[in-house]
This record gives sequence, structure tokens and C-alpha cells, in this order.
Amino acid sequence: MAQTKKLLRTLNGERLDVPPIWMMRQAGRYLPEYKATRAQAGDFLSLCYNPDLAAEVTLQPIRRYGFDAAILFADILLVPQALGADLWFVTGEGPRLSTITSADDFAKLKPASDIHEVLSPIYETVRILSRELPPETTLIGFAGAPWTVATYMIAGRGTPDQGPAHALRQEDTATFEALLDRITEATIDYLSMQIEAGAEVVKIFDSWAGSLKGDAFRKYALEPAKKITAALKAKHPGIHVIAFPREAGENYIGFAKEVGADCLALDNSVDADWAAKHLQVDGCVQGNLAPGHMVTGGKALIDETRRIVKAFSGGPHIFNLGHGITPDADPANVQLMIDTVRENAS
Ligand code: CP3
Repeated sequence: MAQTKKLLRTLNGERLDVPPIWMMRQAGRYLPEYKATRAQAGDFLSLCYNPDLAAEVTLQPIRRYGFDAAILFADILLVPQALGADLWFVTGEGPRLSTITSADDFAKLKPASDIHEVLSPIYETVRILSRELPPETTLIGFAGAPWTVATYMIAGRGTPDQGPAHALRQEDTATFEALLDRITEATIDYLSMQIEAGAEVVKIFDSWAGSLKGDAFRKYALEPAKKITAALKAKHPGIHVIAFPREAGENYIGFAKEVGADCLALDNSVDADWAAKHLQVDGCVQGNLAPGHMVTGGKALIDETRRIVKAFSGGPHIFNLGHGITPDADPANVQLMIDTVRENAS
């Protein structure tokens, strides 16, 4: 049967007159219905591990806006928790984890094969979604890339410059690399289970890829993404992979091709005209409106949305933000963005 889902057609390399749209963090605190369900769950992690409520918040932006894709509601830091790290969220500040700064700390982690006990509710969320999503909506699963996940496991929190992770990488390379390997292995198993449960696409979030330079970028951002992609494609032929080496700059060039990903997600520091010329030549790109437009709206939002759509109109393109929508965004601006992307749809 010919593929009818717009997002999957685009990932297969087709150029569509109106690009499919979804948005990073589309289920989130800018939506009153999300805040209500989150309050019902009690806290963020309880929401992630409650399949009915996690499926509900995943569906909310689909009902409200009719996005072309739904992204599983979960978090990249569930993998560290499943590997045995302590994890909690401090309201208004962000995640906190027990730290890994030595071979002894690393030795306390569980083997990758043990993660499913903690993560099984996530697979149930995926199963519910694959039953309940409208037939035209693509289901995206995801995980953090090993480097980004490691930055949180090493520092025990988000850091502006990933300093503690860079320090471990330089001072105890063996422990650092063992940690990356453990996360890589766990990520392959985790994404495989999401695919078996019904995810049609998986996205690998390397939010801090931009702080790796030169040979370190190749070793710790590109190589793990390549390994994960190859393993998933060997096990699940036809699965689509979106890679997001955020703020990789010139390292974006050739990344998708070398990794074997079907789509390269672009952050909003990348100029769309430059990207059309240097990145979209290799295939599908995703992005890359600055999330700030969801706060400020108006003519600037419309102009910039049109500029991005036009820049990428020569090839396969998935419209998205360059990073997650923020809690202070106005839900009406999301509708304005969607209407602008679809303005010439017949
Ligand atoms: O995109 C989606 O809608 C799917 C769900 C999703 C979440 N986190 C839910 C979430 C996805 C794909 C993520 C990925 C994620 N999580 C990343 C990579 C993408 C990126 O943003 O760079 C990272 C680095 C994390 C780790 C994380 N989770 C941080 C640093 C924080 C705190 C910051 C914040 O916004 O509060 C989270 C919390 C989080 N993850 C929220 C949501 C909706 C907010 C929690 C809440 O409801 O209080």
C-alpha cells in the first residue's frame, strides 16, 4: 500500500508542497490541558511512568492542532534512572541525578539488559498511542544521545558548558568511554522496544553535541549515533531515524549521511538558505524556527515561518522549531505558525 502519512512520505525522501509539521515539546507547560494532567499525575516523573496519562498528554497537542506527528511523552533521563542512577526534578530548576565521576561510581550501574523493568510503562504508553492516534499521524519515539545523557549523569544536573563531562573525558577517558558504551547499548535496547511497541520513527536528541569539537565530535557524537542507527536498522528494516546534533555548526555537514539517518534536525542557529545548500542536498531536513517566536508572535513569526518554508521548498522538509517550545509561549502563536505553513494548502 502506498504510504499516506505525510511525515513518513517526507522521510522516504519525497518533497511535499506543504511540509508536515510537529513541534519539539509540543506536549508541555504552555498548554493548560497539559498542566491539568500533570497536576493529576502529581509530578513530572509520575506522569512519565503513567501510561494512560502520558498517552493523554501526547494526544493533547494532536487534538488541539492536528500536528502530523506525535512524540511519545517521556524524558531522556529515564535511561539513566533505569541504569540505576537516582533521578528527581526540582521545580523551577530542572533535573538532579546522582553523579558519576569515577570508575567506582560507574561500577554501581546496572547492565543495559536490566533497563526494561523500569522502562516497561513507557512501552505501554507507545502501545496505547499506536492504537489511539489518528491514522494520518506518525508516532515518534526518542532517546537522548549517549553524550548528552552522559553530561547529565556525570554532572548530576544540566550545566551551561558540560564542564564536568569534558573533565571526565580528559582525566579518566576509560571510565568516560565505558559510560558512553553502556548508554549506547541501553539506548539501542530502549529504542528497539519502542519500535516493537509501535514507534514508526525514532529521534536521537544530542542537545549538547555542539560542545564537542574536532575529533571528540566524531568519536562521541557521530560514532554513537551511527552505531545506534545501524543496530536499529539491522533489527527493524524500514525504521526511520531523525538525528539532532544540536548546535553542531559545520559538523552538521555530512552528518546524516555518515550516521545513516533519514533526516537531520536543525537548531535555529543554522541559516535555512545555507542548510538547503549544504545539508538538504543529502536528504530530508527538519526545523528550524526559533522557539522565541512562539512567545512573541506577530509579523516576525509569519515572515520567518515563510522564509524557512521557502528556503527548504526544493526538497524533503519537516517543519519544526529549532528547539523545544518554552512554557511562556502563547498557544495562539502555535496556531498562527501552523496556519502560515499550511497557507497555500489546497
Ligand atoms: O518533545 C516532547 O514533547 C516529548 C517529550 C520530551 C520531554 N523531554 C518532556 C519534558 C522530550 C523529547 C524531552 C527531551 C529532553 N529532556 C531533552 C532533549 C531535548 C532538549 O530539550 O534539548 C533534554 C536535555 C531533557 C532533560 C530535561 N527534561 C530537562 C533539562 C528538563 C528541565 C527543563 C524544563 O523544561 O523544565 C526536563 C523536564 C521536561 N521534559 C519537561 C517536559 C515536558 C518539563 C517538566 C514539567 O512538566 O515540569
